[in-house]
Amino acid sequence: MHKINLDLKENSYSILIEENIIENAGKHLKSLKLGKKIFILTDKNVSPLYLNKLMDSLDDYEVKPIIMEAGEHLKSFVNLTKICNFILSEKPDRNTTLIALGGGVIGDLTGFCASVILRGINFVQIPTTLLSQVDSSVGGKTAINTNAGKNLIGSFYQPKIVLIDPNALQKLPEREFLCGYAEAVKYGLINNREFFDYLCKNEKKIKNKDVETLKYIIKTSCESKAAIVEADEKEKSGTRALLNLGHTFAHSFEKETGYSDVLKHGEAVAIGMVMALKFSIELGHCDKKDLELVLEHFKNMGLPTDLSHLNLPANLTKTEIEGNAQVLLSHMCGDKKNENDQIVFILMNAIGESFLSRNTKKDDVLKFLEQNLV
Ligand SMILES: NC(=O)c1ccc[n+]([C@@H]2O[C@H](COP(=O)([O-])OP(=O)(O)OC[C@H]3O[C@@H](n4cnc5c(N)ncnc54)[C@H](O)[C@@H]3O)[C@@H](O)[C@H]2O)c1
Ligand SMILES: [Zn+2]
Repeated sequence: MHKINLDLKENSYSILIEENIIENAGKHLKSLKLGKKIFILTDKNVSPLYLNKLMDSLDDYEVKPIIMEAGEHLKSFVNLTKICNFILSEKPDRNTTLIALGGGVIGDLTGFCASVILRGINFVQIPTTLLSQVDSSVGGKTAINTNAGKNLIGSFYQPKIVLIDPNALQKLPEREFLCGYAEAVKYGLINNREFFDYLCKNEKKIKNKDVETLKYIIKTSCESKAAIVEADEKEKSGTRALLNLGHTFAHSFEKETGYSDVLKHGEAVAIGMVMALKFSIELGHCDKKDLELVLEHFKNMGLPTDLSHLNLPANLTKTEIEGNAQVLLSHMCGDKKNENDQIVFILMNAIGESFLSRNTKKDDVLKFLEQNLV
């Protein structure tokens, strides 16, 4: 078993990575001294696979499952209200526990519910997608979506423990696997060249879902995220913002494609990281060789690399290109990470050497987007 400790003083917790940990969850929860009542929030796709196994391991508790539909639309005020009202009707106390069993959608929604019920009840993460195992289950960001945008209502609320079963990935649809994989590669690009090289060398094993390779990828990703979160839990010093490598571009592409299945978040992040790298080269920070390595790896793995995924019509006129670039730029300016109306970008000096740039000129971004829309 791999164990990573995330040190946040009184909010510290462990991340445990082990095959079949879901069916042994009860054993790992014992030391947390949780109250008798446990609610498990999961979705329709995950519940047939893992809910019974998890419930069987929780014999010592009074367990109630809450099974939701699946999909991003779950992260809503309506569901927040429904879940909170149901749990309140069951007379919880401060020792009551809410377990998230599922991907990042379930994790974000469950964490937010746990943070507001009685001003905070116990929260446990059991992530079942690669994205949630390498990213969203660690770090304590919780959120729901509103008409104004994604993740604009939420809280920082750390789980008591994160239990990661790499075997869950065997049943994950390939497209979802790749979306999570993009977020894993991100750690290599941010500050771990060695990890990026490992990923390039092990493409075949990753594609074959070799469990030891997956465990190593999850462990390294969680260690990277834990270190960044420890340094800057609430995104105050800028260190945590490094995790947004590729995301300023990605959010704008996602908004343009209506947060739909046309372009999933991880795919947008893959394209966004390529764009961040290209933009870094354009601004003279980074060498072209690094871009070639990333493009080759993404292509070998089946990740998208260019804006053709935005489904814009072919043969755009110059005016149309300028218009589209302007729209993408305006999406970026609405990003909540921007400070004083300047675009905050994570740029790269090289693979494994990213940095925060607060004063990127809008004109430079516009010109760059126009070049890439041709
Ligand atoms: N809190 C954070 O720090 C953070 C970070 C990144 C992303 N997020 C959020 O995460 C969400 C995306 O998470 P996601 O990519 O995990 O999507 P998801 O939760 O929608 O899961 C993707 C799909 O896979 C299914 N699924 C889950 N586990 C499965 C398994 N083991 N086998 C088969 N199918 C399975 C789900 O039912 C769903 O249909 C977004 O809402 C995003 O905003 C949060
Ligand atoms: Zn992301």
